[in-house]
Amino acid sequence: MVSIFVTISYSPPKITIHYVAPGISANSSAMASYPLRPFWNLRLEDSALWNQMQHAWDRQHNPILRGNTTGMMRMNSEAKLLSETEEECLSDCMAKCSVPRVHGLDSYPDQMKAFIRSMHCREYPLLINQPSLCRKNSSSFILDSPMLIMAIKSQVGNFENRQAIRETWGRSGLVRGESTKKGGLVRTVFLLGRQDSSTGPHPDLKNLLELENQKYQDILQWDFRDTFFNLTLKDLLFWHWLEQYCPHAIFVFKGDDDVFVRTGALLDYLHMQWEEHILWRAYTNETHMNLFVGEVINNAMPNREPSTKYYIPDSFYQGVYPPYAGGGGVVYSGSLALRLKKVSERVRLFPIDDVYLGMCLYRLGLSPSHHPGFLTFDLPEADRSKPCAYKSVLLVHRRTPNEMLMLWKRLRNLPGHC
Ligand SMILES: *[C@@H]1O[C@H](CO)[C@@H](O)[C@H](O)[C@H]1NC(C)=O
Ligand SMILES: *[C@@H]1O[C@H](CO)[C@@H](O)[C@H](O)[C@H]1NC(C)=O
Ligand SMILES: *[C@@H]1O[C@H](CO)[C@@H](O)[C@H](O)[C@H]1NC(C)=O
Ligand SMILES: *[C@@H]1O[C@H](CO)[C@@H](O)[C@H](O)[C@H]1NC(C)=O
Ligand SMILES: *[C@@H]1O[C@H](CO)[C@@H](O)[C@H](O)[C@H]1NC(C)=O
Repeated sequence: MVSIFVTISYSPPKITIHYVAPGISANSSAMASYPLRPFWNLRLEDSALWNQMQHAWDRQHNPILRGNTTGMMRMNSEAKLLSETEEECLSDCMAKCSVPRVHGLDSYPDQMKAFIRSMHCREYPLLINQPSLCRKNSSSFILDSPMLIMAIKSQVGNFENRQAIRETWGRSGLVRGESTKKGGLVRTVFLLGRQDSSTGPHPDLKNLLELENQKYQDILQWDFRDTFFNLTLKDLLFWHWLEQYCPHAIFVFKGDDDVFVRTGALLDYLHMQWEEHILWRAYTNETHMNLFVGEVINNAMPNREPSTKYYIPDSFYQGVYPPYAGGGGVVYSGSLALRLKKVSERVRLFPIDDVYLGMCLYRLGLSPSHHPGFLTFDLPEADRSKPCAYKSVLLVHRRTPNEMLMLWKRLRNLPGHC
Protein backbone atom coordinates (compact mmCIF):
# COMPACT_ATOMS: atom_id res chain seq x y z
CA MET A 1 0.00 0.00 0.00
CA VAL A 2 2.79 2.35 0.84
CA SER A 3 4.42 1.85 -2.50
CA ILE A 4 1.13 2.35 -4.33
CA PHE A 5 0.46 5.48 -2.36
CA VAL A 6 3.89 6.84 -3.10
CA THR A 7 3.47 6.09 -6.77
CA ILE A 8 0.10 7.80 -6.94
CA SER A 9 1.04 10.86 -4.96
CA TYR A 10 4.34 11.42 -6.62
CA SER A 11 4.51 14.45 -8.82
CA PRO A 12 7.78 15.70 -10.17
CA PRO A 13 9.18 18.63 -8.20
CA LYS A 14 8.77 22.06 -9.74
CA ILE A 15 12.13 23.53 -10.50
CA THR A 16 12.19 27.11 -11.54
CA ILE A 17 15.84 27.40 -12.41
CA HIS A 18 17.29 24.84 -14.74
CA TYR A 19 20.86 23.94 -14.96
CA VAL A 20 22.04 23.91 -18.52
CA ALA A 21 25.35 22.18 -19.00
CA PRO A 22 27.68 24.13 -21.22
CA GLY A 23 28.34 22.24 -24.36
CA ILE A 24 27.91 22.03 -28.09
CA SER A 25 24.99 20.06 -29.32
CA ALA A 26 25.10 18.65 -32.79
CA ASN A 27 21.86 18.99 -34.71
CA SER A 28 21.56 15.34 -35.27
CA SER A 29 19.98 13.57 -32.33
CA ALA A 30 22.36 10.70 -32.88
CA MET A 31 25.16 12.70 -31.30
CA ALA A 32 25.11 13.69 -27.65
CA SER A 33 26.27 17.13 -26.60
CA TYR A 34 29.87 17.34 -25.67
CA PRO A 35 31.65 19.80 -23.38
CA LEU A 36 33.44 22.85 -24.72
CA ARG A 37 36.36 22.40 -22.36
CA PRO A 38 37.56 19.81 -19.85
CA PHE A 39 34.98 19.56 -17.09
CA TRP A 40 37.58 19.03 -14.36
CA ASN A 41 38.93 22.50 -14.85
CA LEU A 42 37.36 24.59 -12.11
CA ARG A 43 38.27 27.78 -13.96
CA LEU A 44 38.42 29.77 -10.78
CA GLU A 45 40.11 32.59 -12.61
CA ASP A 46 36.81 33.28 -14.41
CA SER A 47 34.80 33.26 -11.26
CA ALA A 48 33.65 36.13 -9.08
CA LEU A 49 35.58 37.62 -6.19
CA TRP A 50 33.44 36.34 -3.34
CA ASN A 51 33.21 32.85 -4.84
CA GLN A 52 36.97 32.66 -5.20
CA MET A 53 37.64 33.80 -1.68
CA GLN A 54 35.05 31.44 -0.26
CA HIS A 55 36.49 28.62 -2.29
CA ALA A 56 39.86 29.19 -0.67
CA TRP A 57 38.31 28.86 2.77
CA ASP A 58 36.22 25.86 1.82
CA ARG A 59 39.36 24.12 0.68
CA GLN A 60 41.20 25.07 3.79
CA HIS A 61 38.45 23.75 6.02
CA ASN A 62 37.73 20.69 3.96
CA PRO A 63 38.40 17.77 6.30
CA ILE A 64 39.60 15.57 3.44
CA LEU A 65 41.98 18.07 1.87
CA ARG A 66 43.13 19.47 5.15
CA GLY A 67 46.16 17.96 6.73
CA ASN A 68 49.79 18.34 5.96
CA THR A 69 49.28 18.98 2.27
CA THR A 70 47.09 22.05 2.37
CA GLY A 71 49.90 24.30 1.29
CA MET A 72 50.46 22.36 -1.87
CA MET A 73 46.83 22.25 -2.80
CA ARG A 74 46.42 25.97 -2.94
CA MET A 75 45.83 26.95 -6.49
CA ASN A 76 47.73 29.45 -8.54
CA SER A 77 44.69 31.51 -9.22
CA GLU A 78 44.14 32.10 -5.54
CA ALA A 79 47.69 33.25 -5.09
CA LYS A 80 47.20 35.66 -7.96
CA LEU A 81 44.02 37.04 -6.51
CA LEU A 82 44.97 37.47 -2.91
CA SER A 83 47.69 39.76 -1.78
CA GLU A 84 50.43 38.57 0.52
CA THR A 85 48.87 39.94 3.67
CA GLU A 86 45.66 38.22 2.76
CA GLU A 87 47.50 34.94 2.32
CA GLU A 88 48.90 35.26 5.80
CA CYS A 89 45.54 36.18 7.14
CA LEU A 90 43.99 33.14 5.55
CA SER A 91 46.22 30.79 7.38
CA ASP A 92 46.37 32.24 10.83
CA CYS A 93 43.67 34.75 11.54
CA MET A 94 40.49 36.33 10.47
CA ALA A 95 40.49 39.09 12.95
CA LYS A 96 43.24 41.04 11.26
CA CYS A 97 41.83 43.82 9.21
CA SER A 98 44.00 43.64 6.15
CA VAL A 99 42.78 45.31 3.01
CA PRO A 100 42.81 42.92 0.07
CA ARG A 101 44.40 44.23 -3.10
CA VAL A 102 41.82 43.29 -5.63
CA HIS A 103 42.17 43.65 -9.37
CA GLY A 104 39.78 46.15 -10.84
CA LEU A 105 38.54 47.47 -7.51
CA ASP A 106 38.01 50.85 -9.15
CA SER A 107 35.36 49.48 -11.44
CA TYR A 108 33.07 48.70 -8.51
CA PRO A 109 30.42 51.16 -7.28
CA ASP A 110 31.33 53.11 -4.15
CA GLN A 111 29.38 51.10 -1.59
CA MET A 112 30.80 47.85 -3.00
CA LYS A 113 34.31 49.31 -2.88
CA ALA A 114 33.87 50.26 0.77
CA PHE A 115 32.59 46.78 1.51
CA ILE A 116 35.49 45.00 -0.19
CA ARG A 117 38.03 47.18 1.56
CA SER A 118 36.72 46.21 4.98
CA MET A 119 35.38 42.72 4.36
CA HIS A 120 38.15 41.01 6.31
CA CYS A 121 37.39 42.94 9.38
CA ARG A 122 34.83 41.43 11.68
CA GLU A 123 35.82 42.60 15.08
CA TYR A 124 34.82 46.03 16.23
CA PRO A 125 34.87 47.26 19.80
CA LEU A 126 31.65 47.85 21.69
CA LEU A 127 31.00 51.51 22.41
CA ILE A 128 27.88 50.87 24.45
CA ASN A 129 27.39 47.50 26.13
CA GLN A 130 24.71 45.89 28.29
CA PRO A 131 26.67 43.26 30.19
CA SER A 132 23.89 42.55 32.65
CA LEU A 133 20.91 42.50 30.32
CA CYS A 134 20.38 38.80 30.91
CA ARG A 135 21.06 38.77 34.63
CA LYS A 136 19.36 41.79 36.00
CA ASN A 137 18.17 40.26 39.24
CA SER A 138 20.72 37.62 40.00
CA SER A 139 24.27 36.75 39.28
CA SER A 140 23.26 33.65 37.40
CA PHE A 141 22.48 33.55 33.70
CA ILE A 142 20.22 30.57 34.11
CA LEU A 143 17.73 32.17 36.47
CA ASP A 144 17.27 35.26 34.38
CA SER A 145 17.56 33.75 30.94
CA PRO A 146 15.02 35.22 28.61
CA MET A 147 12.62 33.08 26.70
CA LEU A 148 13.05 35.51 23.84
CA ILE A 149 15.69 38.10 23.16
CA MET A 150 14.64 40.66 20.57
CA ALA A 151 17.62 42.09 18.71
CA ILE A 152 16.48 45.01 16.62
CA LYS A 153 18.63 46.66 14.01
CA SER A 154 18.32 50.37 14.40
CA GLN A 155 20.31 53.48 13.60
CA VAL A 156 21.42 56.23 15.93
CA GLY A 157 18.88 58.74 14.61
CA ASN A 158 15.82 56.47 14.88
CA PHE A 159 14.88 57.50 18.43
CA GLU A 160 11.20 57.55 17.58
CA ASN A 161 11.15 54.00 16.22
CA ARG A 162 12.93 52.67 19.27
CA GLN A 163 10.58 54.43 21.66
CA ALA A 164 7.51 53.19 19.81
CA ILE A 165 8.89 49.66 19.94
CA ARG A 166 9.58 49.90 23.67
CA GLU A 167 6.03 51.08 24.24
CA THR A 168 4.46 48.39 22.07
CA TRP A 169 5.72 45.08 20.79
CA GLY A 170 9.24 45.27 22.16
CA ARG A 171 8.49 45.76 25.83
CA SER A 172 11.14 44.16 28.03
CA GLY A 173 9.98 42.03 30.94
CA LEU A 174 7.43 39.30 31.45
CA VAL A 175 5.13 39.23 28.46
CA ARG A 176 1.97 37.21 28.28
CA GLY A 177 1.11 34.92 25.42
CA GLU A 178 -2.00 35.75 23.49
CA SER A 179 -4.19 32.68 23.71
CA THR A 180 -2.44 30.29 26.05
CA LYS A 181 -1.55 32.93 28.64
CA LYS A 182 1.77 31.20 28.99
CA GLY A 183 4.20 34.01 28.76
CA GLY A 184 7.88 34.42 28.93
CA LEU A 185 10.66 36.77 29.83
CA VAL A 186 11.46 39.06 26.90
CA ARG A 187 14.53 41.24 26.61
CA THR A 188 14.95 43.82 23.89
CA VAL A 189 18.21 45.28 22.60
CA PHE A 190 18.87 47.64 19.74
CA LEU A 191 21.87 47.02 17.51
CA LEU A 192 23.61 50.18 16.37
CA GLY A 193 26.70 51.12 14.47
CA ARG A 194 28.22 54.57 14.38
CA GLN A 195 26.70 57.55 12.67
CA ASP A 196 28.41 60.81 13.45
CA SER A 197 30.55 63.42 11.76
CA SER A 198 33.44 60.97 11.43
CA THR A 199 31.37 58.48 9.41
CA GLY A 200 29.61 60.85 7.07
CA PRO A 201 27.51 63.98 7.07
CA HIS A 202 25.62 63.13 10.24
CA PRO A 203 24.62 65.43 13.08
CA ASP A 204 26.28 64.47 16.34
CA LEU A 205 23.67 62.71 18.42
CA LYS A 206 26.10 61.09 20.80
CA ASN A 207 24.86 62.86 23.91
CA LEU A 208 21.24 62.16 23.13
CA LEU A 209 22.06 58.50 22.63
CA GLU A 210 23.86 58.43 25.95
CA LEU A 211 20.84 59.88 27.69
CA GLU A 212 18.59 57.38 26.01
CA ASN A 213 20.82 54.56 27.09
CA GLN A 214 20.96 55.78 30.69
CA LYS A 215 17.22 55.68 30.79
CA TYR A 216 16.53 52.39 29.04
CA GLN A 217 19.77 50.41 29.07
CA ASP A 218 18.90 48.54 25.92
CA ILE A 219 21.44 49.83 23.39
CA LEU A 220 24.35 47.92 21.91
CA GLN A 221 26.60 50.07 19.79
CA TRP A 222 29.74 49.04 17.93
CA ASP A 223 32.45 51.14 16.40
CA PHE A 224 31.74 50.69 12.69
CA ARG A 225 30.03 52.79 10.06
CA ASP A 226 26.32 52.09 10.11
CA THR A 227 25.64 51.55 6.40
CA PHE A 228 23.45 49.18 4.44
CA PHE A 229 26.34 46.96 3.36
CA ASN A 230 27.62 46.78 6.95
CA LEU A 231 24.40 45.29 8.33
CA THR A 232 25.86 41.79 8.29
CA LEU A 233 28.30 42.95 10.95
CA LYS A 234 25.39 43.50 13.30
CA ASP A 235 24.45 39.82 13.08
CA LEU A 236 28.00 38.65 13.63
CA LEU A 237 28.71 41.01 16.49
CA PHE A 238 25.38 40.29 18.11
CA TRP A 239 26.09 36.53 18.07
CA HIS A 240 29.40 37.29 19.64
CA TRP A 241 27.71 39.34 22.32
CA LEU A 242 25.03 36.71 22.85
CA GLU A 243 27.60 34.00 23.44
CA GLN A 244 29.31 36.11 26.03
CA TYR A 245 26.45 37.81 27.84
CA CYS A 246 23.26 35.87 27.19
CA PRO A 247 24.13 32.32 26.15
CA HIS A 248 21.02 30.71 27.61
CA ALA A 249 18.40 32.72 25.77
CA ILE A 250 16.01 30.17 24.31
CA PHE A 251 14.93 32.11 21.24
CA VAL A 252 16.22 35.07 19.30
CA PHE A 253 14.14 37.46 17.25
CA LYS A 254 16.14 39.55 14.83
CA GLY A 255 14.40 42.28 12.94
CA ASP A 256 14.29 45.85 11.72
CA ASP A 257 13.01 48.84 13.62
CA ASP A 258 10.22 49.46 11.12
CA VAL A 259 8.33 46.20 11.53
CA PHE A 260 5.39 45.36 13.74
CA VAL A 261 5.42 42.12 15.71
CA ARG A 262 2.54 40.48 17.53
CA THR A 263 4.74 39.47 20.41
CA GLY A 264 2.05 37.57 22.33
CA ALA A 265 1.20 35.43 19.33
CA LEU A 266 4.88 34.89 18.66
CA LEU A 267 5.40 33.67 22.25
CA ASP A 268 2.51 31.22 21.82
CA TYR A 269 4.11 29.89 18.67
CA LEU A 270 7.50 29.57 20.38
CA HIS A 271 5.98 27.74 23.35
CA MET A 272 4.54 25.22 20.94
CA GLN A 273 7.88 24.79 19.23
CA TRP A 274 9.63 24.40 22.55
CA GLU A 275 7.23 21.72 23.77
CA GLU A 276 7.62 19.83 20.53
CA HIS A 277 11.35 20.03 20.90
CA ILE A 278 11.22 18.64 24.44
CA LEU A 279 9.18 15.68 23.23
CA TRP A 280 11.49 15.14 20.30
CA ARG A 281 14.51 15.37 22.56
CA ALA A 282 13.14 12.67 24.83
CA TYR A 283 12.97 10.33 21.85
CA THR A 284 16.18 11.13 20.08
CA ASN A 285 18.56 12.64 22.63
CA GLU A 286 18.96 15.45 20.12
CA THR A 287 19.95 18.48 22.13
CA HIS A 288 20.22 21.04 19.35
CA MET A 289 17.08 22.90 18.54
CA ASN A 290 17.28 23.90 14.92
CA LEU A 291 14.51 26.42 14.64
CA PHE A 292 14.87 29.15 12.02
CA VAL A 293 11.65 30.67 10.69
CA GLY A 294 10.70 33.63 8.59
CA GLU A 295 9.47 34.50 5.14
CA VAL A 296 11.59 32.19 3.03
CA ILE A 297 12.85 33.18 -0.39
CA ASN A 298 14.05 30.38 -2.65
CA ASN A 299 16.17 30.48 -5.79
CA ALA A 300 16.76 34.21 -5.62
CA MET A 301 19.27 35.66 -8.03
CA PRO A 302 21.56 38.54 -7.15
CA ASN A 303 20.19 41.91 -8.13
CA ARG A 304 22.08 43.08 -11.22
CA GLU A 305 20.44 46.48 -11.53
CA PRO A 306 23.17 49.02 -10.78
CA SER A 307 20.73 51.72 -9.63
CA THR A 308 19.31 49.73 -6.69
CA LYS A 309 20.81 49.54 -3.24
CA TYR A 310 20.86 45.73 -3.46
CA TYR A 311 23.08 45.75 -6.55
CA ILE A 312 25.67 42.95 -6.55
CA PRO A 313 27.97 43.05 -9.58
CA ASP A 314 28.63 39.96 -11.65
CA SER A 315 32.28 40.16 -10.83
CA PHE A 316 31.59 40.02 -7.07
CA TYR A 317 29.18 37.12 -6.74
CA GLN A 318 28.01 34.46 -9.15
CA GLY A 319 25.30 31.92 -8.65
CA VAL A 320 21.92 31.60 -7.04
CA TYR A 321 21.47 32.61 -3.41
CA PRO A 322 20.82 29.80 -0.96
CA PRO A 323 17.33 29.74 0.56
CA TYR A 324 17.10 32.63 3.01
CA ALA A 325 14.53 34.40 5.13
CA GLY A 326 13.64 38.03 4.44
CA GLY A 327 15.52 40.30 6.78
CA GLY A 328 12.50 42.24 8.05
CA GLY A 329 12.34 39.75 10.89
CA VAL A 330 13.29 36.16 11.63
CA VAL A 331 13.22 33.95 14.70
CA TYR A 332 15.74 31.29 15.56
CA SER A 333 16.68 29.24 18.57
CA GLY A 334 19.44 30.46 20.87
CA SER A 335 21.44 27.28 20.45
CA LEU A 336 21.33 27.74 16.69
CA ALA A 337 22.57 31.31 17.12
CA LEU A 338 25.69 29.98 18.80
CA ARG A 339 26.26 27.47 16.02
CA LEU A 340 25.69 30.15 13.39
CA LYS A 341 28.36 32.19 15.10
CA LYS A 342 30.78 29.31 14.90
CA VAL A 343 30.13 28.52 11.25
CA SER A 344 30.23 32.18 10.24
CA GLU A 345 33.95 32.09 10.91
CA ARG A 346 34.18 30.04 7.73
CA VAL A 347 31.89 32.10 5.54
CA ARG A 348 33.18 35.25 3.90
CA LEU A 349 31.25 38.36 4.75
CA PHE A 350 28.51 39.09 2.27
CA PRO A 351 27.02 42.58 2.00
CA ILE A 352 23.37 41.52 2.23
CA ASP A 353 22.62 40.33 5.74
CA ASP A 354 19.66 38.02 5.14
CA VAL A 355 21.51 36.25 2.33
CA TYR A 356 24.54 35.87 4.59
CA LEU A 357 22.40 34.13 7.21
CA GLY A 358 21.16 31.80 4.46
CA MET A 359 24.76 31.05 3.51
CA CYS A 360 25.65 30.20 7.11
CA LEU A 361 22.58 27.97 7.52
CA TYR A 362 23.45 26.21 4.31
CA ARG A 363 26.87 25.38 5.70
CA LEU A 364 25.26 23.93 8.81
CA GLY A 365 23.23 21.68 6.55
CA LEU A 366 20.02 23.51 7.43
CA SER A 367 17.55 25.65 5.60
CA PRO A 368 15.09 28.23 6.92
CA SER A 369 11.46 27.21 7.47
CA HIS A 370 8.74 29.26 5.92
CA HIS A 371 6.04 30.64 8.20
CA PRO A 372 3.08 32.37 6.54
CA GLY A 373 2.76 34.72 9.53
CA PHE A 374 5.90 36.61 8.54
CA LEU A 375 4.83 39.25 6.06
CA THR A 376 7.94 41.15 5.15
CA PHE A 377 6.09 42.34 2.04
CA ASP A 378 3.04 43.50 4.03
CA LEU A 379 -0.65 42.65 3.84
CA PRO A 380 -2.72 43.50 0.78
CA GLU A 381 -3.39 47.24 0.88
CA ALA A 382 -7.13 46.85 1.43
CA ASP A 383 -6.64 44.70 4.56
CA ARG A 384 -4.15 46.86 6.41
CA SER A 385 -6.75 48.75 8.39
CA LYS A 386 -8.80 45.69 9.36
CA PRO A 387 -7.81 44.27 12.75
CA CYS A 388 -9.09 40.80 11.85
CA ALA A 389 -6.62 40.61 8.96
CA TYR A 390 -3.83 40.49 11.54
CA LYS A 391 -5.19 37.40 13.26
CA SER A 392 -2.62 35.02 11.82
CA VAL A 393 0.14 37.57 11.38
CA LEU A 394 3.29 37.34 13.49
CA LEU A 395 5.26 40.10 11.80
CA VAL A 396 4.44 42.73 9.25
CA HIS A 397 6.69 45.16 7.42
CA ARG A 398 6.58 48.10 7.42
CA ARG A 399 4.97 50.39 10.00
CA THR A 400 5.85 53.87 11.15
CA PRO A 401 6.11 54.60 14.90
CA ASN A 402 2.62 56.13 14.90
CA GLU A 403 1.17 53.15 13.10
CA MET A 404 2.84 50.84 15.63
CA LEU A 405 1.12 52.61 18.51
CA MET A 406 -2.24 52.57 16.75
CA LEU A 407 -2.00 48.94 15.73
CA TRP A 408 -0.89 47.88 19.19
CA LYS A 409 -3.97 49.45 20.71
CA ARG A 410 -6.34 48.07 18.12
CA LEU A 411 -4.95 44.55 18.21
CA ARG A 412 -4.84 44.39 21.99
CA ASN A 413 -8.24 42.76 22.11
CA LEU A 414 -9.02 41.27 18.76
CA PRO A 415 -12.78 41.09 18.34
CA GLY A 416 -14.14 37.61 19.06
CA HIS A 417 -15.59 37.17 15.59
CA CYS A 418 -12.20 37.15 13.91
C1 LIG B 1 22.07 23.16 -37.12
O1 LIG B 1 21.02 24.03 -36.72
C2 LIG B 1 21.23 25.38 -37.03
C3 LIG B 1 20.06 26.22 -36.53
O2 LIG B 1 19.40 25.55 -35.50
C4 LIG B 1 21.41 25.54 -38.57
O3 LIG B 1 21.71 26.89 -38.84
C5 LIG B 1 22.52 24.67 -39.04
O4 LIG B 1 22.61 24.72 -40.44
C6 LIG B 1 22.31 23.23 -38.61
N1 LIG B 1 23.47 22.43 -38.96
C7 LIG B 1 23.36 21.25 -39.53
C8 LIG B 1 24.65 20.54 -39.79
O5 LIG B 1 22.30 20.76 -39.87
C1 LIG C 1 51.29 16.05 9.82
O1 LIG C 1 52.68 15.88 9.93
C2 LIG C 1 53.14 15.59 11.25
C3 LIG C 1 54.65 15.46 11.21
O2 LIG C 1 55.19 16.18 10.20
C4 LIG C 1 52.48 14.34 11.78
O3 LIG C 1 52.89 14.13 13.13
C5 LIG C 1 50.98 14.49 11.71
O4 LIG C 1 50.36 13.29 12.11
C6 LIG C 1 50.53 14.86 10.31
N1 LIG C 1 49.11 15.11 10.29
C7 LIG C 1 48.29 14.59 9.40
C8 LIG C 1 46.86 14.96 9.52
O5 LIG C 1 48.68 13.88 8.52
C1 LIG D 1 13.56 41.77 39.74
O1 LIG D 1 12.90 41.16 40.84
C2 LIG D 1 11.87 41.92 41.40
C3 LIG D 1 11.30 41.16 42.58
O2 LIG D 1 12.29 40.49 43.24
C4 LIG D 1 10.78 42.16 40.35
O3 LIG D 1 9.76 42.99 40.88
C5 LIG D 1 11.40 42.84 39.14
O4 LIG D 1 10.43 42.95 38.12
C6 LIG D 1 12.56 42.04 38.63
N1 LIG D 1 13.21 42.78 37.57
C7 LIG D 1 13.38 42.30 36.36
C8 LIG D 1 14.04 43.20 35.41
O5 LIG D 1 13.03 41.19 36.05
C1 LIG E 1 31.86 49.37 7.40
O1 LIG E 1 32.47 49.89 8.56
C2 LIG E 1 33.86 50.01 8.49
C3 LIG E 1 34.37 50.47 9.82
O2 LIG E 1 33.78 51.66 10.22
C4 LIG E 1 34.22 50.99 7.36
O3 LIG E 1 35.60 51.07 7.25
C5 LIG E 1 33.62 50.50 6.06
O4 LIG E 1 33.83 51.44 5.05
C6 LIG E 1 32.14 50.25 6.21
N1 LIG E 1 31.64 49.60 5.01
C7 LIG E 1 30.70 50.12 4.26
C8 LIG E 1 30.26 49.31 3.09
O5 LIG E 1 30.20 51.18 4.48
C1 LIG F 1 19.32 8.46 24.98
O1 LIG F 1 20.18 8.52 26.11
C2 LIG F 1 19.92 7.53 27.09
C3 LIG F 1 20.86 7.75 28.27
O2 LIG F 1 22.03 8.36 27.90
C4 LIG F 1 20.12 6.12 26.48
O3 LIG F 1 19.84 5.13 27.44
C5 LIG F 1 19.18 5.99 25.30
O4 LIG F 1 19.42 4.75 24.66
C6 LIG F 1 19.40 7.12 24.29
N1 LIG F 1 18.39 7.03 23.26
C7 LIG F 1 18.68 7.15 21.96
C8 LIG F 1 17.54 7.05 21.02
O5 LIG F 1 19.81 7.32 21.55
